Amino acid sequence: MTAAPPPPRLPSSALTLPPAVSITQAPPVELLEMHEHQCPECGKTHTSLFRGTSAMCPDCTEKLRIAALQPEAEKAQAESQESRLKAWFDLCPPDYRSTNWRDHAELSPMCRWLAKHWWLAGAERDAKLGPDGKPVFGHQRGLGLWGPTGRGKTRAMYAIIKRLHFAGVRCHAVQAIHFAEAAMLIAERAPWSVREGAVDLIRRCQTVPVLLFDDLGKENSTPAVAKAMHDLVEVRKAHQRTLLWTSERTADELAQFLGVNFADGIVRRIGEITRVFHTEDPIPTAAAVTSNPDLPESP
Ligand SMILES: Nc1ncnc2c1ncn2[C@@H]1O[C@H](COP(=O)(O)OP(=O)(O)OP(=O)(O)O)[C@@H](O)[C@H]1O
Ligand SMILES: [Mg+2]
Ligand SMILES: [Zn+2]
Repeated sequence: MTAAPPPPRLPSSALTLPPAVSITQAPPVELLEMHEHQCPECGKTHTSLFRGTSAMCPDCTEKLRIAALQPEAEKAQAESQESRLKAWFDLCPPDYRSTNWRDHAELSPMCRWLAKHWWLAGAERDAKLGPDGKPVFGHQRGLGLWGPTGRGKTRAMYAIIKRLHFAGVRCHAVQAIHFAEAAMLIAERAPWSVREGAVDLIRRCQTVPVLLFDDLGKENSTPAVAKAMHDLVEVRKAHQRTLLWTSERTADELAQFLGVNFADGIVRRIGEITRVFHTEDPIPTAAAVTSNPDLPESP
């Protein structure tokens, strides 16, 4: 026979447990209680979880919160306007910041009309129809403007860029000559300290949503420049980015000038992505142009 095991020893704390209470006997839990208030601001009666009688109603609380944020919001807005203005001064040379279209007969009516009416491709723009009933700016995203010197091509483009910039569209402007210089520096493998800026410029020209390429055909034409032009136009076309350009040269002159290897491709792509106007073209009839209430009356 084996001896029975000793009875288990309970810890002493087990002896102090409160007696079990059945659920039905438990005291009722106090649920969250809504209290009635009269808003000290507007007098409306409302309920909330807080006790007391002076809680503001949700509407008045919200008004107070917005009022408290107002100076912050105004400050942020003033700062963003200031930085946009500063960016505009970086973007546009002083001479082109304002153009008096009325008192300068030497400026072409076509330039003036484009400066006032051209806008980014989209429903708003497609609503403007020419005399033939088709979109007056075509279906291309971009705009090309060519014709004799001094007719206001560059002025028209800066007027357009100004509207876009202040509407929040990122724009960049480059002189063909500066673009070509950058392309040459890269091709000649100039020291990196010099080349870095050139690489930046070319990259920005490829990627910015709206690029003004001013005075196409004024640059020195070399195979390296033609290649850079080709890449620029190809990248912008592939990514559906807007190109604006001005030139004194005709398409044939440009093709000849750019050199045989790349010219056809460049000129063809430019034609595909931009609607081209000549400074001396008659402007589409005023009656056909629906005015856009969002755009300023004069550029
Ligand atoms: N404040 C001004 N307001 C309006 N027109 C001006 C003003 N100052 C100069 N002009 C005129 O602007 C014209 C030059 O404009 P712009 O540079 O846009 O011409 P362009 O067609 O681009 O010429 P280019 O082919 O040589 O680049 C000149 O004919 C000049 O008389
Ligand atoms: Mg010009
Ligand atoms: Zn209230």
